[in-house]
This record gives sequence, C-alpha cells and structure tokens, in this order.
Amino acid sequence: MLLITKNLSKQYIIEKSFFSNKKTVVMALENINFELKEGSILGVLGETGSGKTTLAKLITKLIEPTNGEVIFDISDVRRSVQMIFQNPFSSLNPRMTIKSILKEPFLIHHLANSRNLESKLKALLDKVNLNYECLERYPDEFSGGQRQRIAIARAISMEPKVLVCDEPTASLDLSVQAKILNLFLRLKEELGLSYIFISHNIEVISFIADEVLILYEGGQVERGLKDKIFKNPLHPYTRILLGSESYEFKKVQAEKDHKGCRFYCNCKLRTNICQQLAPQEIEIEKGHYVSCHNPK
Ligand SMILES: Nc1ncnc2c1ncn2[C@@H]1O[C@H](COP(=O)(O)OP(=O)(O)OP(=O)(O)O)[C@@H](O)[C@H]1O
Ligand code: SF4
Ligand SMILES: [Mg+2]
Repeated sequence: MLLITKNLSKQYIIEKSFFSNKKTVVMALENINFELKEGSILGVLGETGSGKTTLAKLITKLIEPTNGEVIFDISDVRRSVQMIFQNPFSSLNPRMTIKSILKEPFLIHHLANSRNLESKLKALLDKVNLNYECLERYPDEFSGGQRQRIAIARAISMEPKVLVCDEPTASLDLSVQAKILNLFLRLKEELGLSYIFISHNIEVISFIADEVLILYEGGQVERGLKDKIFKNPLHPYTRILLGSESYEFKKVQAEKDHKGCRFYCNCKLRTNICQQLAPQEIEIEKGHYVSCHNPK
C-alpha cells in the first residue's frame, strides 16, 4: 500500500457572517477509510459538495484533518504526492514563462543542475507532448488542454509516486478530455505512478479507474474494484448515481448531522435501525465494501 486513510475527517467552521452571529460547522468529510495500492488508479466519484476536493487537499497535506489520519508508505511526502487541479487557468502563474514554471521544482528539489537543466526540461516536455518552443511563452498563450499538460509536466518533474487529480478534465472539451485521460494512462505506465482520480463524471471514472470510492455528503458509501461496483452496485445511493434506479433527491442538510445513516431521508430501503445507527462498512464479497444496514 502507498497510503491508507484511517477515519479521515474534516470539519470546516464558518465564522459568523454579516447576516448571522452564529458559527456554522460543515462536516465536509467523516470517517473516510481506504487504501491506495501501488500502480493502481483509485477513482473517487461523488456529486458536488460530497467532499472530493477536501479529500484531495487532505491527502496532499494542503489542509490538516480534524480527526483521523493519512498513513503514507512513501518517503518525502510533500514531493512524492502531487496534485493536479481542476482549473489549469488558475493553477499556473500567468506572469511566469513556462520555463520558469517548470524549472522551479527541479531547482527547489535539487533534481537538476545548471548543466542538465535544459535537457531535463526538454525530456519533460516530450513526456507530455509539448513542443520545446513553448518554454519562452506564458500560460495565457495556451489552450486549456495545453495548460493542463503544463500542469502535469510540473507535477511529474518532481518525480512523484502519487498524483492526486481533482477533476483534471472537467473544464476541457470532450475531444481534449480523451487525450488528457490517455496521457494520464501512458504516464502511469512510463513513470510507475499511482493516482487518486477525482471526478463527478461516471464515464471518466469508468474509463480510467481500477478501484472506486463513492462519496455521498461527506461519507463513503461504497468502495471496491471498479468492475464489481459497476456491475453490482450494492448501496442504494450508488444504484441511483450509476443510473440503475431513478429517484428525485431531497437535499436534506440535516442528514449530515443526525446520528444514523446520512442517506436516511432519501432511502427507499430504510428501516428503524438506519435512523439510530450509522452503518459500519462491511466486505460483502472480496474487494467490495459497502456502508449500509440493508445492502442489496
Ligand atoms: N474552505 C471551506 N470552508 C467552509 N466550507 C467548505 C470549505 N471548503 C469546502 N467546504 C464545504 O465542504 C463541503 C465539501 O466541499 P468540497 O469542495 O470538498 O466538495 P466537492 O465534492 O469537491 O464539490 P465539487 O464537485 O463542487 O467540487 C461542501 O459543503 C463545501 O461547501
Ligand atoms: S443504512 Fe439504511 S438508510 Fe442508509 S442506505 Fe442503507 S438501507 Fe438506506
Ligand atoms: Mg471539488
């Protein structure tokens, strides 16, 4: 295992606003438990607000957990675990040339010196299919797809083991999305990478992931091998998300706070226990886990 999360949880406290004197607590993630195997792509699937970006920031240590932990079997985590952000337009400094953007991590981490810097930059651009001439240009001279290639080049320049990709193709056109997804797959093989790949898009996760973690309102509801989850979704929410059942969702904020199952108010299979007790995760078949009192 490259990393394991143990009861990983994050609360945000929103200080009183202009309209209200009360502090609000947002339980963005609660008791997240999974592992990332070496050479594997873990797809994290969830709707908006389910806690995906919070998870990415916790894994990359951009924020600290409120409870729980991430245990790494990797040295030098800050260099070895890199994040690719959703928006390549805001993740690259518009005032820096591509050369300055790409050479910075090489120099900070002592991965290049003045003699081999040029050849390292060239090799890096080759890996992401960008032309050497782009080095003297600025980010806003490039398309969204090209910028994402530059962001990927910057991340792999640090010779990471894990890339945490937060919706890296969501802002791109469909044809460009496919090329970037294929680039991720090629780099994984060439560089021996592993990915935590976040998306709200089922087709993207279905294409790229080996294993899947499904989030609902800050909690994990199901996880396991992709084929098992897609062929045989066990959690009532997963079945709705994957389209095997239709349902009109009630958005119930209170679900986050009550002590039972967070999906209670929307669930057709709920029973009394579901309101009283949060379901523990159980392994239903090898490599397939679900958090539900009444799985299918
Ligand atoms: N800095 C913050 N302060 C307060 N609340 C936050 C903060 N960041 C996220 N949240 C809240 O935490 C919850 C999870 O947010 P998060 O951004 O992790 O979700 P997400 O799954 O990435 O959503 P999206 O698909 O829209 O990107 C949401 O309710 C969000 O409003
Ligand atoms: S624990 Fe109960 S309410 Fe929650 S998803 Fe399962 S059946 Fe539905
Ligand atoms: Mg997000």
